[in-house]
Amino acid sequence: LFPWAQIRLPIAVMPQRYELNLHPNLTSMTLKASVTISLTAFQATWNIILHSTGQNISRVTFMSAVSSQERQVEILEYPYHEQIAIIAPEALRVGHNYTLKIEYSANISSSYYGFYGVTYKNANNEKKYFAATQFEPLAARSAFPCFDEPAFKATFVIRIIREEQYTALSNMPKKSSVHMEDGLVQDEFSESVKMSTYLVAFIVGEMKNLSQDVNGTLVSIYAVPEKIGEVHHALETTVKLLEFYQNYFEIQYPLKKLDLVAIPDFEAGAMENWGLLTFREETLLYDNSTSSVADGKLVTKIIAHELAHQWFGNLVTMQWWNDLWLNEGFATFMEYFSLEKIFKELFSYEDFLDARFKTMKKDSLNSSHPISSSVQSSEQIEEMFDSLSYFKGASLLLMLKTYLSEDVFQHAVILYLHNHSYASIQSDDLWDSFNEVTNKTLDVKKLMKTWTLQKGFPLVTVQRKGMELSIQQERFFLNLKPDIQPSDASYLWHIPISYVTDGRNYSKYQSVSLLDKKSGIINLTEQVQWVKVNTNMTGYYIVHYADEDWAALINQLKKNPYVLSDKDRANLINNIFELAGIGKVPLKRAFDLMDYLINENHTAPITEALFQTSLMYNLLEKLGHMDLASRLVTRVYKLLQNQIQQQTWTDEGTLSVRELRSVLLEFACSHNLGNCSTAAMKLFDEWVASNGTQSLPTDVMTTVFKVGAKTETGWLFLLSKYTSVGSEAEKNKILEALASSEDVRRLYWLMKSSLHGDIFRTQKLSFIIRTVGQNFPGHLLAWDFVKENWDKLVQKFHLGSYTIQSIVAGSTHLFATKAHLSEVQSFFENQSEATFQLHCVQEALEIIQLNIQWMEKNLNGLTWWL
Ligand code: BES
Ligand code: ZN
Repeated sequence: LFPWAQIRLPIAVMPQRYELNLHPNLTSMTLKASVTISLTAFQATWNIILHSTGQNISRVTFMSAVSSQERQVEILEYPYHEQIAIIAPEALRVGHNYTLKIEYSANISSSYYGFYGVTYKNANNEKKYFAATQFEPLAARSAFPCFDEPAFKATFVIRIIREEQYTALSNMPKKSSVHMEDGLVQDEFSESVKMSTYLVAFIVGEMKNLSQDVNGTLVSIYAVPEKIGEVHHALETTVKLLEFYQNYFEIQYPLKKLDLVAIPDFEAGAMENWGLLTFREETLLYDNSTSSVADGKLVTKIIAHELAHQWFGNLVTMQWWNDLWLNEGFATFMEYFSLEKIFKELFSYEDFLDARFKTMKKDSLNSSHPISSSVQSSEQIEEMFDSLSYFKGASLLLMLKTYLSEDVFQHAVILYLHNHSYASIQSDDLWDSFNEVTNKTLDVKKLMKTWTLQKGFPLVTVQRKGMELSIQQERFFLNLKPDIQPSDASYLWHIPISYVTDGRNYSKYQSVSLLDKKSGIINLTEQVQWVKVNTNMTGYYIVHYADEDWAALINQLKKNPYVLSDKDRANLINNIFELAGIGKVPLKRAFDLMDYLINENHTAPITEALFQTSLMYNLLEKLGHMDLASRLVTRVYKLLQNQIQQQTWTDEGTLSVRELRSVLLEFACSHNLGNCSTAAMKLFDEWVASNGTQSLPTDVMTTVFKVGAKTETGWLFLLSKYTSVGSEAEKNKILEALASSEDVRRLYWLMKSSLHGDIFRTQKLSFIIRTVGQNFPGHLLAWDFVKENWDKLVQKFHLGSYTIQSIVAGSTHLFATKAHLSEVQSFFENQSEATFQLHCVQEALEIIQLNIQWMEKNLNGLTWWL
């Protein structure tokens, strides 16, 4: 009988040190290995319970430090919890040390999880083998028996036997290489710092690198040999960011080396393994002639994110996955913060603002959840990796930083990192550090708990009478049944209320006060024309105004929008459309506000307006209301026509200008407005005539390819290029065009091929499904494909994973009929209970219902006045 019934391991025995000997065979995809674990008993016990899955354990020996005699022992297995138990030959005594040696073999995984193998073709079309690890959250146990929970920190010594042509990498620097018989080499890596199992990593493959020393840390970027020319951007960026973080945190990066590796096939975007960051090729490599500004920015952002984890996550780790947001929210916050500080020219605040809009949309659903939620099962843990942990987490930190000031925030962060280095923490430990710094003037813990333990966010309603603002909060809620009051009347947040006005005393700075009750009063110190609450949208809430106050703001926007910041303008567009969505303002009013866009030339507001209207367009189009859909486009086009006509087909200007160009030309071409498609087609034809060698402006390349892909010959030419061009940046642009086709047969073939993973790597499948699912008639097809291949998808990407979440959302979010609702519902009901209960499934069902409801409510109105 297995002696342990819980998912969480007992804490009677804790690991101190692992010695891991690995001998992988990349061609047969098998692993022979042994692990020696040094343990300390913290309670008297006979049992040692740890994780292991998918291993063939051949021999286990036990040794106590006192007797130092090896004794072979039996093991018990409990596959359902991925645990094994060893009954010790003697009772373990508190404070004593023991050693366990486990010899085993296993298959190298063919999914993207655990220690997995990849094949790829090099430039000479030769088949190549590569193996890498992805352990977070729960897959270290599939590579070696271990105590696979983040709080069980230990040190690791790793040895790898490889063939001579390969390079082997692990978290720590290589200590020695020994040549063995049969032309094999054994590399040994230095003993690691104390760390969690999910951060252990090793890689074997043919690679080249470019390196630079930064104050005693050797920074290297690794890629397969033919892509070594694309690593410069990453190296420069990493060096700057490493210096920035070491200064900001006042803690040196503790390892002697830092490797960043582009893996030929990788499920996530990137992973922060300590000292051995892993990436997709497209998220690390930069090709001067085919990468766009957006591509380069993505590389910078992702490096900034994974590097931030070296402190937030690696040095200081959450005790358990319920607090994942501490890892991901902080890394995401630091990503934007560091870019704002040292790469100001990247305008990353625009992306952060956009991310807040999208996250609040998700968080306003009933299927949302608090970012700190208790989790047990592997699906629940996987599901924590959603945009709420990342972006709600980051948004709350932004709100706190803005409220407390940058200095106080930094002090608290430094204190927290210093106090908990090499240890593991809970959310409360972070808030305690803040409270130590605010020194009783403010209870940060109490304030922040209202945000991390409740789902959703507040709607703040403002009413102005003379110089008095009365404010009031309630939950912002996309209500499915408007006549039934939701059971969340008790929701209450502690909200930093900031505002700007046109008054002389206010215009350039913001005022802040805290609303910690249902309602409150703010006294202005002078008469003003208008008030804009939630300055720069640093607060995680939506604001609604009285009629006259909306009118005053709209009036100001039309008169001179630039009195308000671009963030505030984008914020007003976002809020009024979201409020129209819940019926608080008439949709017509939202369009009325948007009319100011005729004088707008900044990226953030235009992007948000296009996003809001494209949501409506997509629904109208998918329901066959083509006439209304095109009237909607015409209306938007009238506002942006000037802007669009000023665009050139070049890569000129600041990054923000270049991103705006991509967005505007894509909008114009996809709706056939002006002469956009003609211009794009001309570029495409020239490109084809040069057999794809002529260089195209990178920022509009996708748009040019999409227009080109509309003809059969264009599509086929793009496909032939896909298989022959080298850079992932160019491939991705071609792929997006291929997947935007209207030809159902071709779309289906794309998805099938990607599942198979030959021409299109399987890592691209969720992107393909999402792109197909965005367009008409592809959205019907994407869902059919997901249904038919559900089991395979889950096997490859595992239930609850970020990839599965994005596949479910991307293949269902544009359905807006009762028939589709019941079809999606019954499909998931017929899967396992765990599947039906996934947040992403519940969210998909809710979104379809809301789409239906939105149509019922707004179709008449739209027909009437559009
Ligand atoms: N720790 C994650 C990688 C990860 C994601 C592991 C999901 C397990 C499950 C990493 O730090 C990360 O967040 N990667 C992001 C990129 C980032 C810039 C948002 C990703 O992979 O999308
Ligand atoms: Zn992360």
